[in-house]
Amino acid sequence: MRHTPGPPPVTQPPLTSPFRIADVEVPNRVLLAPLAGIGNWFVRLQARRHGAGMAVSEMVSSFALAHRNRRTLEEMLRVHPDEGVVSIQLFGSDPDVMRVAAATAAEAGPALLDLNMGCPVPKIVKTGAGVALLRDPDLAVAVASAAAEGSGLPVTVKLRSGIEPGDRSGLALARRLVADAGVAAIAFHPRAARRQHAGAPDYELVRELVDALDGSGVPVILSGGLRSAELARRAYRESGADAVMIARGALGDPWIFSELTGRAPRREPARVVAELDWVLDRASEHWGPERAARNLRKFYPWYLERLGISGSRADRFQRTERLEDVRELLAEAVRAPVGASL
Ligand SMILES: Cc1cc2nc3c(=O)[nH]c(=O)nc-3n(C[C@H](O)[C@H](O)[C@H](O)COP(=O)(O)O)c2cc1C
Repeated sequence: MRHTPGPPPVTQPPLTSPFRIADVEVPNRVLLAPLAGIGNWFVRLQARRHGAGMAVSEMVSSFALAHRNRRTLEEMLRVHPDEGVVSIQLFGSDPDVMRVAAATAAEAGPALLDLNMGCPVPKIVKTGAGVALLRDPDLAVAVASAAAEGSGLPVTVKLRSGIEPGDRSGLALARRLVADAGVAAIAFHPRAARRQHAGAPDYELVRELVDALDGSGVPVILSGGLRSAELARRAYRESGADAVMIARGALGDPWIFSELTGRAPRREPARVVAELDWVLDRASEHWGPERAARNLRKFYPWYLERLGISGSRADRFQRTERLEDVRELLAEAVRAPVGASL
């Protein structure tokens, strides 16, 4: 059934109100999306500090967990006690492996597990995981059931609307996962996998899924295109989803969570610098200072852009070998501001 976009349904609760995923109460409807290579405990904790109701981890390989890969266990499964509601996202395509991995992930103490059935990256797809599961709904159901059995936790699934533009297999799979695997929520990214992360998401497809799952008690979480608080609010209204999930919009801008949860966003330069400083400290604690200095290079542009620092001044951050050098450059940036925003 097609819908014409219209006014928001009067019953749609505000983003600041709590909702439930199975028996887990989530304090509001603004969530941090899974971000591979980014969404570790301190990035999730940052989102939480700024108001996110729940945060999903970066995707973790079920194969690596089942093989008890040390770094995967120690680093990717690390959960901080102050994080609030956390979901750990796993990817995989073998139900037996997933059962074991889910049991291991559950020991880390998340409230939920999420399964990745939307990743279009060839390295993942060729193992039969990520969006490849759209082509094998029986296997997808078996993987989700195994995750629930292994973990004893409510299991959610994040998936795409389809593989090619126009393909709606994601909608059908979402319904099957709820009916046959008892999946507790669907995070839906209404962009074809072929489009990766480009192009406008089709929120009308989210609306269709919301209608299809109406009465099931299974919430639909919207992902895609939520680059600002304004876009997130609009997509929430247009789609009728139960919650929104912020991905790229949160990079270097945790204040998007404050803005969407009714707190004043404080993006003054001094606060941006203090926030990056907080990240440096947490990263050092997580990876040790040397690895942190390397791993954080990809984080700097997100914050520097906000400070109006670009070109050769931004490039200097990419050449830093030590966190102290980054701190010095930041102090310099605050002393000698450049750009309109400073
Ligand atoms: C760098 C990056 C890493 C991502 N990693 C994951 C991941 O590990 N698992 C997942 O389900 N989606 C992942 N995604 C997809 C996002 O969660 C989100 O669905 C997508 O970026 C669309 O939202 P946006 O347009 O608001 O950024 C990733 C996206 C980006 C940009």
